Amino acid sequence: MRYRKVKKIEEKLSALGYGCWGISGPSFWDGTTDDDSIKTIRKAVSEGINFFDVAPVYGFGHAEEVLGKAVKGMRNDIFIATKCGLVWDQQNRISNCLEPESIRREIEASLRRLQTDRVDLYQLHWPDPRVDIEKTMDAVNDLKKAGMIRYIGLSNFSLALAERAMKVSDIVSMQGLYNMLERNPKSYHNIPLEYAVEKEVLPFVKRNEMAFFPYSPLFQGLLTGTFDLERKNFSSSDVRSANPKLSGPDFEKYYSVAKELKAISEEIGKPLSQIAINWLLHHEEVTSIIAGAQNIAQLEQNLGAVEWEIDDGLYGRIETLIKNSGIDL
Ligand SMILES: NC(=O)c1ccc[n+]([C@@H]2O[C@H](COP(=O)([O-])OP(=O)(O)OC[C@H]3O[C@@H](n4cnc5c(N)ncnc54)[C@H](OP(=O)(O)O)[C@@H]3O)[C@@H](O)[C@H]2O)c1
Repeated sequence: MRYRKVKKIEEKLSALGYGCWGISGPSFWDGTTDDDSIKTIRKAVSEGINFFDVAPVYGFGHAEEVLGKAVKGMRNDIFIATKCGLVWDQQNRISNCLEPESIRREIEASLRRLQTDRVDLYQLHWPDPRVDIEKTMDAVNDLKKAGMIRYIGLSNFSLALAERAMKVSDIVSMQGLYNMLERNPKSYHNIPLEYAVEKEVLPFVKRNEMAFFPYSPLFQGLLTGTFDLERKNFSSSDVRSANPKLSGPDFEKYYSVAKELKAISEEIGKPLSQIAINWLLHHEEVTSIIAGAQNIAQLEQNLGAVEWEIDDGLYGRIETLIKNSGIDL
């Protein structure tokens, strides 16, 4: 494993991390079983992966429970990053909430589900425009003082809001949508994004010596070369059916670039997923790539990425292909 270090975080974090949305359970992600998820997580730890990104809302608590179960007895070997700020009601309707009382309830539930006494990185999942960020940060600072969380991070935050949060709390990381084909995306699952990763967030994290965690690094599976045009039909319960870039008119455009990238991957004898991971690692601001993996075979393929690097020639070829494809970068 390769590791990356940022000034604001004590531990070195594995360049390949593990994203836990896909372990939310079979009613959220097609083809998932808890048994496979647990085996995959344990294999990940044994291969040196120490960074795990999860959230309460993934499977409405289920992903945190599965992660807690899988890493029992290995707690000190791993760095757990969970989140707060997306809550759900009895009908499982999700809403944004960064009210202090809600955050206090959320952390207690997360610690219980994760079977731990502390979260290493607590990230605000999405902004909540109804609550002053200063009030939220005061509450999160209290959790840190109480030893329930070690570090504070932001996810899906604009730089303007991040700068306000930084006046109240020590922010160590940013998380945002970033992969070869989505570099400064304007939306995610139809939610408008108020940040541009490549243009603004990467320079920002570098300037502030923070970590950056790119989410959906494999474009939810498109950049693994396993999709075909029919694959746009996920089951209606699979969360990816709500990604218009994988199911709407945009899909054919993204699919056609992925197909050309796959041809390059076959020519050089490396899986497309490894190219997608290595393309991200080519950017020094990227700390840990939180790729999802549904089973050990996928994980092993992704792990292979850290055994080689993209050279300038290959990088240039990929850039030319993508920039000439007409997709909005
Ligand atoms: N902060 C946020 O708002 C936010 C938003 C989204 C995600 N995230 C985080 O980012 C993590 C990763 O993002 P993501 O889950 O959206 O997608 P991703 O990592 O881009 O894609 C993961 C999916 O790709 C497929 N895959 C992975 N490796 C493969 C391989 N070697 N061969 C074939 N297929 C492979 C698997 O799905 P299939 O086999 O089912 O195709 C897997 O679940 C999440 O788990 C979560 O922790 C955060």
